[in-house]
Amino acid sequence: MFIMKQFVYVSHPARVVFGAGAAAQLGAEVSGLGAKRVLLISSRARGDKVKAMARDLPVVDVFDHAVMHTPREVVEAARMMAKAANADCCVAVGGGSTIGFGKAIALTSGLPVVAVPTTYSGSEMTTIWGISEGKTKKTGRDPKVLPRVVIYDPQLSLELPPAVSAASGMNAIAHCVEALYAHDGNPIVSLMAEEGIRALTQALPKIVATPGDVEARSDALYGAWLAGSTIATTSVALHHKLCHVLGGLGLPHAETHAIVLPHAMRYNYGAALRAMKRAEAAMRAENAPAAMWQLEAGLGIPMKLAEIGLKRMDIERAARAAVEAPYPNPRKVEFAALVELLQNAYEGNKP
Ligand SMILES: NC(=O)c1ccc[n+]([C@@H]2O[C@H](COP(=O)([O-])OP(=O)(O)OC[C@H]3O[C@@H](n4cnc5c(N)ncnc54)[C@H](O)[C@@H]3O)[C@@H](O)[C@H]2O)c1
Repeated sequence: MFIMKQFVYVSHPARVVFGAGAAAQLGAEVSGLGAKRVLLISSRARGDKVKAMARDLPVVDVFDHAVMHTPREVVEAARMMAKAANADCCVAVGGGSTIGFGKAIALTSGLPVVAVPTTYSGSEMTTIWGISEGKTKKTGRDPKVLPRVVIYDPQLSLELPPAVSAASGMNAIAHCVEALYAHDGNPIVSLMAEEGIRALTQALPKIVATPGDVEARSDALYGAWLAGSTIATTSVALHHKLCHVLGGLGLPHAETHAIVLPHAMRYNYGAALRAMKRAEAAMRAENAPAAMWQLEAGLGIPMKLAEIGLKRMDIERAARAAVEAPYPNPRKVEFAALVELLQNAYEGNKP
């Protein structure tokens, strides 16, 4: 049964080149943009592989210092390199951290970005940028940072360790779940969100069991694409708010998302029943929060915030921060209930 409420639907331009071997199209995609001076962006660990992949591109310089959280001083170095090299395009190959550098350069220069994602966090499909300064991360939305071309090639993620694959995939599932109950959601985004949950929840256990499974890697990238596309046009809610607060306390991004998600779903369950029913349909499960927790337990990733660096004494602090500046959420965001949620996530209790 359809119940259409009023909504506004916004879509963003996207050119997606998808499939095993798609990275071979990189040169054609760059020249399709008319670019002749490419700044290549990667992390240090992946630098040599990325340079080899880009050997046919007109590369004028390589920024291989991409790190987590896009710290302002590292971003400034990347921006200066792009300017000094007179680059007319950025090609970022890596996870959300590396792509974040392409976005940060685009934010001030307007340079087009070609993103080649190798994790499942979905950043390549959004207009959201983030730059950290000390312990705070400033984020915003700007169409300039949206990559002009995204190349999804599952062969590039075959070496992504199972635990990193699983955690970044859970991050993507969290985008889909929150898009399903976003206050500014709409039927098209819900379709993508449900399909994203379906693709990722089926793919992640297969990837953990067989990291070289190209089909499962391919399904996970498809899910990541859908997941990024959902939050590109909807707001995020309590789950993302809690993860931003916990990120500020130094907790790792993807793992925090993975642990908090089932508990945030339990918190919102009664207030977002239609969304939860869609998540259940996608997972072929009866109780979405419990099923999400069970899925994660099988992926071999941390299940307790205590394991990834949260101190018990910081639970109330985090709850207060989330209550003081809440994101719109289906259920009222209340301090005592959030403390309970975080305690459960801290201890790894089944929601
Ligand atoms: N702006 C957005 O819309 C958005 C969305 C999601 C995440 N993010 C941001 O992205 C960051 C997290 O990104 P992430 O979870 O994708 O992980 P990541 O980019 O931090 O990478 C995780 C790890 O995987 C390694 N890695 C990446 N590709 C690999 C490969 N092919 N083989 C082997 N190892 C590989 C990296 O070196 C790193 O150690 C956070 O800063 C988060 O804020 C932004």
